[in-house]
Amino acid sequence: MSKIYSTPPTLNRERRFPDNMQAAHALALKAKQGRKGNRTGERYALPAFNVTNIQGINSAFTAFETLGSSGLMAFSNSALKHMGGGDPLFGLEVASDYVARKAARSSVQVATHLDHGDYISEQGRRVVQAAVSALTSVMADNSTDKVNKAGLPLEDNIGYTREVVNMAHPLGVSVEGELGVLAGEEDEDTKSDVSTYTEPDELARFLRETGVLMLAPTIGTMHGANKGRPGHKVKLNIPLAHELLKIADGINDEIIFVAHGASTMYEDVRDYAVEQLEALGAPFDGTAQTWKDFVGTDWEQIKGLIGAGFCKINTDTENRQTFLAALLGAVNKNAAKVDIRWYEKQMWDAVSASYIQKLIMAGNYGVWHEPKIDVEQFVFDLHSV
Ligand code: 13P
Repeated sequence: MSKIYSTPPTLNRERRFPDNMQAAHALALKAKQGRKGNRTGERYALPAFNVTNIQGINSAFTAFETLGSSGLMAFSNSALKHMGGGDPLFGLEVASDYVARKAARSSVQVATHLDHGDYISEQGRRVVQAAVSALTSVMADNSTDKVNKAGLPLEDNIGYTREVVNMAHPLGVSVEGELGVLAGEEDEDTKSDVSTYTEPDELARFLRETGVLMLAPTIGTMHGANKGRPGHKVKLNIPLAHELLKIADGINDEIIFVAHGASTMYEDVRDYAVEQLEALGAPFDGTAQTWKDFVGTDWEQIKGLIGAGFCKINTDTENRQTFLAALLGAVNKNAAKVDIRWYEKQMWDAVSASYIQKLIMAGNYGVWHEPKIDVEQFVFDLHSV
């Protein structure tokens, strides 16, 4: 049982993580304040890239180091299970050790984050507790009971989240809470059919009583590849986002909002995938239609959120789409290439380019050193990756 504090413990900023690692909050705060090197300019955002294996981590580092970006790699429970051969706790060891070794040789500062950790289920608790020791940031997603698939009362969400803050903040590990329910499906951990907006009336209480410095409010984003009806633009509740920002800034202007479901989906990637599926022929006609029907969130809407303090933007689906599109391209290029490394390289080079594209869009470059490429001239095109 963690120590009970009369008020939530503040984040221990004296904690020095080894090897070019920082709490996610420290990197996101730099972004909210527009700090790069010793200059202060426009606000930018910290994309949180969900990674699921060693290649994903390598691709993320390639992108961060190409641009001199602040980097954030997020691991979901199911990603950790995947990395650990079925055991998320072993996956956590593998992921955190590998990132630490990469970070020690890196030119940039990075953070590691547990995505959608919950403190409700036995298994969820075990993973969150281990993540507080192994990573630099954790999400305590207690707005929904994932086992019983039901929203949790505010008191319970506050209670569970506060327990995580009590444990993590004294160690300098930042905590992200969630208030409201986000719809959509990213993987088995994040499936919900309904979405409820964050209630402004509940926000101040949640922030004060939990002490979190990062919060995912729900303002209309969704997880997954089908965020809206094909042919229609997804509309987020930007006025609500600004209303929430005013309340949060009134409590502590270092609070960072987090946009889950921030994948915009690159139209060129979709077109490339459709082109590859059409080249594969008739059996893939239905799959080509499925790709055409995917709907991401408009980047203009995400930019609106960044303006409202959403400086951590979670993108998973669009990078998975890039991976899959590149796999289809690799099959079309050479389906007789009996070499796993060649296939993997095609996919992960593409994902690296996808990360670079998002970091440029988010304004997250030149933070730790000048970019090694001309960001104005960068073109993300799977034909040339
Ligand atoms: P997307 O499904 O839009 O990539 O969202 C990912 C996410 O929110 C991870 O927490």
